[in-house]
Amino acid sequence: NCPNDIQDCFNHRCVVADGLRTSIMSVNYMYPGPSIEVCHNDTIIVDVLNRLPEPTSIHWHGLTQKETPWMDGVPFITQYPIQPGKTMRYRFIAENPGTYWYHSHYGMQRAWGVSGSLIFRQPKKLDSFGHFYDIDTTDQVIFLSDWAYNHTRNPIGNLLINGKGHVQRTNKSEVHSNFYAKFHVKEKLRYRFRVIFEGYSQCNVEFSIDNHTLLVISTDGNDLQPIEVESILLTSGERYDFVLEANQMMGNFWIRAQGQAAGCNDFYQGAVLNYRGSGTGTLPSGVITSRFELKGNQLNSVFDRFAGADDIPIHHAKGLDPFPYKSKSLFQTFYIHIKRMNGLFTMNDINFVFNNSISLLDAYEVYDDGQYTCNDRSLIKQGRSCKNELCSCPQMIHLPYNEYVELVIVNDMRGSHPMHMHGYSFHVVGQGEFQSEEERLNIEFLDEINPLPRNGDYPPLKDTVIVQSRGYTIIRFFTGNPGYWLFHCHIEVHVEIGMAVLFKVGDNSDICTVPWDAGIN
Ligand code: C2O
Ligand code: CU
Repeated sequence: NCPNDIQDCFNHRCVVADGLRTSIMSVNYMYPGPSIEVCHNDTIIVDVLNRLPEPTSIHWHGLTQKETPWMDGVPFITQYPIQPGKTMRYRFIAENPGTYWYHSHYGMQRAWGVSGSLIFRQPKKLDSFGHFYDIDTTDQVIFLSDWAYNHTRNPIGNLLINGKGHVQRTNKSEVHSNFYAKFHVKEKLRYRFRVIFEGYSQCNVEFSIDNHTLLVISTDGNDLQPIEVESILLTSGERYDFVLEANQMMGNFWIRAQGQAAGCNDFYQGAVLNYRGSGTGTLPSGVITSRFELKGNQLNSVFDRFAGADDIPIHHAKGLDPFPYKSKSLFQTFYIHIKRMNGLFTMNDINFVFNNSISLLDAYEVYDDGQYTCNDRSLIKQGRSCKNELCSCPQMIHLPYNEYVELVIVNDMRGSHPMHMHGYSFHVVGQGEFQSEEERLNIEFLDEINPLPRNGDYPPLKDTVIVQSRGYTIIRFFTGNPGYWLFHCHIEVHVEIGMAVLFKVGDNSDICTVPWDAGIN
């Protein structure tokens, strides 16, 4: 019976969710945490008081934190974790208008509930496309989250929409419309919706609204050339904004989110799109199912052959700008192979573990010599051969400052992985499958002779992108933001077992030092 209001939640200490009792970690007694919604260029100050019995830290997913790298919230990289009872004041600028979110970057706390939305609005008409954002009313946030139950008996979680939903696998007759999140619209008006997918597990999600199309206008805080689709596939960490035209005559319609990966059959949820004048007591027609037809006209950044979705090509919306730098020769290309070893993950044969004795940004000087971090050279010096034995350490790859860099991320496994970059948005210029296993394993050499296709025309700018099962994704960016930036799989267990690498952009002298007043009290 939790009321909607924050103040009341403080008093009641409650979370609505799906009605199953479980213990969670919450932000201000809410799940999802309170939505932080400000205007572009505002200064945001968040005091994080850690009342957990373990350390924490908060990451602002999608922000580049240019000039404030110590606010990125990655423990042992950009800050020391906030110990129980301590407070840290995060302070940064709402740099680019768009849809972002925040979450704990410590251990599995995101799966336990520490996350919420972060919205930077801009004045109407000042956006890149003017009329495309010409909506008739305020926007609404749709926060899709992976809800973990804390029972060994019930290890599978649920998918929630704005913290609400029905428990799957329970008796249909128990379904009541109050279980579901409701979004209210008025006939003939246009609305901007912002979909955020928290997803801590391996389940990707397909999002759609019955009887409505979605005019997608933005992803990961970057504007797109508007494109009308029937559904959007999202992978953990991604955001898509769309305009919905309330062009139906009254009624209630299902907003659907459905798991789309192997083992995600129970991962689905509905919410109600309610037209003004129609009662909210009745459920929309049609059932929310574990699998509904994949729609024909689909925007997807997800392609998971493992899940049996064979015929869907990767189909990104286009970005706004023609790519200014097209030639491959401009770029320094880095190849990163993701693999499995001894039940853990490696990137370029190194299993990432944090050095939990130091905050790198706080250490005045960090060299690639194996002292705080490691790389292939420092490991060879130590006589390790990481192809044959498991090497676990904080792998740091040095990237030159102010250069064009290209990463070819190669997935050597079955199953897809959403890769997220801290400190940058990147252009997605290529995504696909290899012709053969030989090509995949030797891509460093073969890419020279017979390059993988790269598409430089209006590539979308993103901060999180899928790398498909045994496939590749090619991203490009200009390294204009010095600092220590984590690049990792956004499936929470995967980063916990090593699917991460740290980029150091610039030399010690290029990287700002942490100001005396930024810290934990
Ligand atoms: Cu949203 Cu490093 O993560
Ligand atoms: Cu992964």
